Amino acid sequence: MRTDFDPRNLPRRDFYRLLNSLVVPRPIAWVSSRSATGVDNLAPHSFFTVASVSPAIVQFTSVGVKDTLRNILATADFVVNFTPESLFEEVNATGTDFEPQESEFDRAGLTREPSLTVGSMRVAQSPAAIECRLHSTLELGDCTLVFGEVTHIAVASDVLDDGGHPLVEKLRPLSRLGLDEWGTIGEVKEIQRIRASDWPREFRPREQ
Ligand SMILES: Cc1cc2nc3c(=O)[nH]c(=O)nc-3n(C[C@H](O)[C@H](O)[C@H](O)COP(=O)(O)O)c2cc1C
Repeated sequence: MRTDFDPRNLPRRDFYRLLNSLVVPRPIAWVSSRSATGVDNLAPHSFFTVASVSPAIVQFTSVGVKDTLRNILATADFVVNFTPESLFEEVNATGTDFEPQESEFDRAGLTREPSLTVGSMRVAQSPAAIECRLHSTLELGDCTLVFGEVTHIAVASDVLDDGGHPLVEKLRPLSRLGLDEWGTIGEVKEIQRIRASDWPREFRPREQ
């Protein structure tokens, strides 16, 4: 048996909460931007993904118009800072609706670090920063999709293995689940993709 939900029959907020609880876990883009008057803004966005490989473009969605979106439209750049488990409370604190002239860096006790290629500041405590120049925006209903072309990535050397590859056990990413729930890394499984030419006569998943 299944329970059915029709977006036409549910209030916007209820359907949003339902959808948000099913599209999980979501990575969190901790977006830093700078206002036209120089205020350093920081806000988490979990509607976030890689939009294109080459050119490297990342995308997040602003639900409504917020300081982050206004700043990026004004200055044309931003940084996606990585959100590790160790900064759980700080990430949440930067989701507060402060006035535009207040910097979440200061309110959450975070340190600014200059970026290499853009004017927006990085979060010094975060282990990785993806610097972006605004590529384009797309208005979709009550949301604006923001596409940023990656101009530089900076990663703390102590989360990289000897080959320069980021170690997820050291990054310890936070993710967003439904309602007020957040996820942490949990068990990491590894499996190789099967080529069609290696496909067995009968597919039998290994017993867990
Ligand atoms: C974990 C988390 C994820 C969030 N994801 C989004 C999102 O994807 N899009 C969005 O518009 N707001 C999202 N929010 C809410 C914004 O962070 C919040 O509205 C914030 O105050 C916006 O700040 P700003 O006005 O400085 O841009 C999220 C909040 C949290 C805590």
